[in-house]
Amino acid sequence: IQSLIIDCDPGVDDAVALFLAFAAAEPTLLAVTTVGGNVPAHLTQRNARMMRQIAGREDVPVFGGAERPLKRPPAGAGDFHGPEGLGDLEPFAPTGIIGDGPAANAIVDLVMKRPAGSVAVAVLGPMTNLALAMKRERRLAEHLGPVVVMGGARSEGGNITASAEFNIWADPDAAAVVFGSGCEVIAFGLDATHQVRATEARIRAVETIRTDPARTVAALLRFSQRTERQVVGSDAPPLHDPCPIAWLMKPDLFTLKPCRIEVETGSDLTRGHTAVEFRVDPATARHRWAVAAEGQGVFDLLTETLKAK
Ligand code: BDR
Ligand code: CA
Repeated sequence: IQSLIIDCDPGVDDAVALFLAFAAAEPTLLAVTTVGGNVPAHLTQRNARMMRQIAGREDVPVFGGAERPLKRPPAGAGDFHGPEGLGDLEPFAPTGIIGDGPAANAIVDLVMKRPAGSVAVAVLGPMTNLALAMKRERRLAEHLGPVVVMGGARSEGGNITASAEFNIWADPDAAAVVFGSGCEVIAFGLDATHQVRATEARIRAVETIRTDPARTVAALLRFSQRTERQVVGSDAPPLHDPCPIAWLMKPDLFTLKPCRIEVETGSDLTRGHTAVEFRVDPATARHRWAVAAEGQGVFDLLTETLKAK
């Protein structure tokens, strides 16, 4: 993999993932694309541009994307992200430019003009933009590098319904397009992300770093900690969206298993459920599911990367 596109719906944990990628030496960040998800699309786009400005990375274009899922009405996860998507951060009007054209077109253009397999796409929200890109350009799936996604639930059940994780539930039809496209997909679902938790000590470690990006990350983690206490009654919120980015930077932090992942699109009861079939031939399997993550290792990577910047 040489370069990366991040497709996201910031979103508190999306924002932390962006800061990790903005500060990372590799892979090269080609673009950020945004989608309606945790909050509506005009806010996720603004939020990504705010984070870009705080990180001093105006060199990275931000493209706005789909306002609604392929077939379902738009959902939202404001409880966990605050009404504007970034917890209690004070919103401001960012100055950096907005990329020309919708996210799906940008994904097609950026991937198709580079060598096959060289561009990874990290999807940290509903998969609408990537599904639209695949519909627009049939050769995209075979030209793409790995698609690394935060999404899916298996062993402990879901976080939005008994069966489903929010990103897949929000646009199950788009997820079915991506998982069914034949491209390589590595999924970081709740089995893995629930092992990466922002404990008090880990938040304090970020708070010792005296830069604007680190201060922003610390404020986002504190907000998540308060929300987790109120909504779930636990002390250490899971840090979902940085996981796929951390894997691209340091694969040893995760244990992956070859599989085939299919998404329930029909049933109202189990909509967005990810059926993860491990009885596959590892030599030909196109999907991998993260079964374990080293939580401390992911936080060490985050703090070291923020410090190095
Ligand atoms: C996912 O849902 C969103 O609320 C988070 O940003 C994350 O991408 C976790 O289920
Ligand atoms: Ca997200």
